[in-house]
Amino acid sequence: MTLVLGIETSCDETALALLRDRTVLAEAMASQVDAHALFGGVVPELASREHLRCLGPLLDGLLARAGVSPRDLDAVAVARGPGLLGSLLVGLSLAKGLALAGGAALIGVNHLEAHLLAPALDADIPFPALGLLVSGGHTQLVRMRSATDFETLGRTLDDAAGEAFDKAAKSLNLPYPGGRVMDELAGLAEPDPDLFPRAYVANDNLDFSFSGLKTAMAQYVAAHPSLRLPTLPTPGALLDPALLPPGLARVCASYNLAVADTLRIKVERALDRPPCRGEVRSLVAAGGVAANSLLRRLLAGVAERRGLPLLLPPPRLCTDNGVMVALAGTFLYRAGLAHGLDLEAVPRGRTVPRDFRPREPHAPER
Ligand code: KG4
Ligand code: ZN
Repeated sequence: MTLVLGIETSCDETALALLRDRTVLAEAMASQVDAHALFGGVVPELASREHLRCLGPLLDGLLARAGVSPRDLDAVAVARGPGLLGSLLVGLSLAKGLALAGGAALIGVNHLEAHLLAPALDADIPFPALGLLVSGGHTQLVRMRSATDFETLGRTLDDAAGEAFDKAAKSLNLPYPGGRVMDELAGLAEPDPDLFPRAYVANDNLDFSFSGLKTAMAQYVAAHPSLRLPTLPTPGALLDPALLPPGLARVCASYNLAVADTLRIKVERALDRPPCRGEVRSLVAAGGVAANSLLRRLLAGVAERRGLPLLLPPPRLCTDNGVMVALAGTFLYRAGLAHGLDLEAVPRGRTVPRDFRPREPHAPER
């Protein structure tokens, strides 16, 4: 049995989880969404301060509820990037302190790989798998050879899929973060499949580009200003469908389709060519945008047509959380991999190195 603490502070969620193998013993989370909503996006300096303010009390509560002491831990797994540097440093400092004090192995986890492993909490992922990672900061197609061996096949050249939703929502005066709201409004109308383009698919690659789509929405809203909500609702406010500007739900449905269908096209393209063709045994999607109901339906269609199992995390494990970090840490721990106290944070835009070292014998497998 392996007892692992997961620490996630790479963006605007402060999240912790205690995992014994695949059983979640306790979880703790403090979302900063309200603090950043005022600014329409994450303010890095504010995010680091909030992590520092929240982590201590969250950890105390988590350990008390699970009846666990830091000395009981086999490993402390911490998201080490990519993410906001100042935010990552807060989580890394806590992880190093705990590992040093309690003798647990320190394991730096790639935040993107952790997202893709989230479905493994409930079911074994048949490897090799094709993974689609779609979040607020990243959009990638990844070949997952095993739970500890990943290869990026394609990535966004500009905005992430979640950003495409959030920025489009902002131009409509919908509350931040806009993806979930656009998904809900999209469910109220039929899409016009020709209203927005399938961005960056007329090429031969597996990369993505969503900045043009965002601009298409901004131009459409400029030409149809009555679509905008007159005032920005408070975060989390419920929108009354009866009071929505006419045509807004249809525009959201059309935009939702444009993003989800673009993702589907590139997933199918990846499945049709080496190294995936004839080799992958499952399809995985993860990250905040994997909560999108239309994307889930489109990917289910792809998986069914190709006879592949589709593994999706439950919506609560799509967005940033501590469980996925603890789970990724568990796989690395079992593979005998860990880090030293010189573990470094990796900011957004840089590749996370595979700089593991063999696990110290002072953290034996129990
Ligand atoms: O994975 P995540 O929590 O953050 C990053 O690691 O970046 O994803 C947050 C993103 C936001 O852009 C949010 O708008 C989007 O996920 N999102 C959605 C949905 N729920 C969250 N996008 C589309 N449909 C949803 N249902
Ligand atoms: Zn994330």
